[in-house]
Amino acid sequence: MKAFTKTQYGGPEILQCTDEAKPQVKEGELLVQVCANSANPADWHILRGEPFFARFSFGLFKPKDKILGADFAGIVEAIGPKVEGYHIGDQVFGELLQGGAFAEYACAPAQMCAKIPEGSGFQEMAAVPIAGLTALQALTTHGKLKAGESILINGASGGVGHFMVQIAKAYGAKVTAVCSTKNVDFVQSLGADNVIAYDTENIHAHTAKYDLIVDTHGNLSFEDFNRMGHRGIIVGFTTLGHFMGVLLKKAFSTFSLGHFTAEANTQDLSILADLIHAKKVKPHIEKVYPYSEIPEAIAYIEKMHTRGKVVMVWDTMTIPSK
Ligand SMILES: NC(=O)c1ccc[n+]([C@@H]2O[C@H](COP(=O)([O-])OP(=O)(O)OC[C@H]3O[C@@H](n4cnc5c(N)ncnc54)[C@H](OP(=O)(O)O)[C@@H]3O)[C@@H](O)[C@H]2O)c1
Repeated sequence: MKAFTKTQYGGPEILQCTDEAKPQVKEGELLVQVCANSANPADWHILRGEPFFARFSFGLFKPKDKILGADFAGIVEAIGPKVEGYHIGDQVFGELLQGGAFAEYACAPAQMCAKIPEGSGFQEMAAVPIAGLTALQALTTHGKLKAGESILINGASGGVGHFMVQIAKAYGAKVTAVCSTKNVDFVQSLGADNVIAYDTENIHAHTAKYDLIVDTHGNLSFEDFNRMGHRGIIVGFTTLGHFMGVLLKKAFSTFSLGHFTAEANTQDLSILADLIHAKKVKPHIEKVYPYSEIPEAIAYIEKMHTRGKVVMVWDTMTIPSK
């Protein structure tokens, strides 16, 4: 099978399309014929081995895992022992944070997959796993958002942010979204009640107060969280130094400020699938690349100005229509 592989750390140019053995399904896993992937900042962090401490998980001197890629959507081709609830031919989506998704076939733990809802396609659902799970878990598991609360989302137009605006609205929150001027109309179309363009208004001098502040971009200071919020969640970070500085100040304060790494699980993926099926959430796909241009897709999202998501598609000739 074709796969996008790496044997050293580096930029998208080191990714190669190579012939690899088709993976063998193991206990608890699904073998999936991949129809579409999406690109996430995690892909280029893992590709580059940055920040450096990530290499303790992904390989100190060179990558432990050869095939890149986390988000996928496709068709179940084989089912490992002790997997229940799936059949060959099911259309599924899921996440492989250790890699392996940028390939014609991938083996994924069944508990990190869910079924594609009726009426949705592979491209749409490949856009969901990491960004959708992060948005959902920031709001619910960690942010404890309640209906009627006010939320400020800093970085509202990207992969995580555009899901977060829609999910927060679906959960009955009043949403203030922060993005660049060029994305104001987009974020309003997602349902944001108020929009702050960070390139015309200084968010670090904004004085309104919100129940919850979620920072997906990662440039808010501890003082920003404390001034604008009753509680806060950090999702992304701009520099490690800034992130550590915010956490250090939090350690000497009673302000409720959390950070987390999103976890893939069937329950949360199914919640996202239900929200999409109910048309309360719609993945926005800015660009679609053919699989042969996966390195170009990664290079594009590295600029960190994606509107919604970037998706890559495999050979659609073999994909049955839903
Ligand atoms: N904790 C976790 O488990 C987890 C999971 C997924 C992602 N993340 C992290 O979350 C971050 C966002 O991920 P993503 O997939 O949403 O990335 P993305 O799709 O590249 O989106 C980045 C967004 O940041 C916005 N942005 C850029 N400069 C900004 C500024 N000065 N102020 C406010 N917003 C600004 C951009 O909007 P404009 O184009 O309008 O500027 C863009 O929409 C990344 O750092 C990623 O590593 C963390």
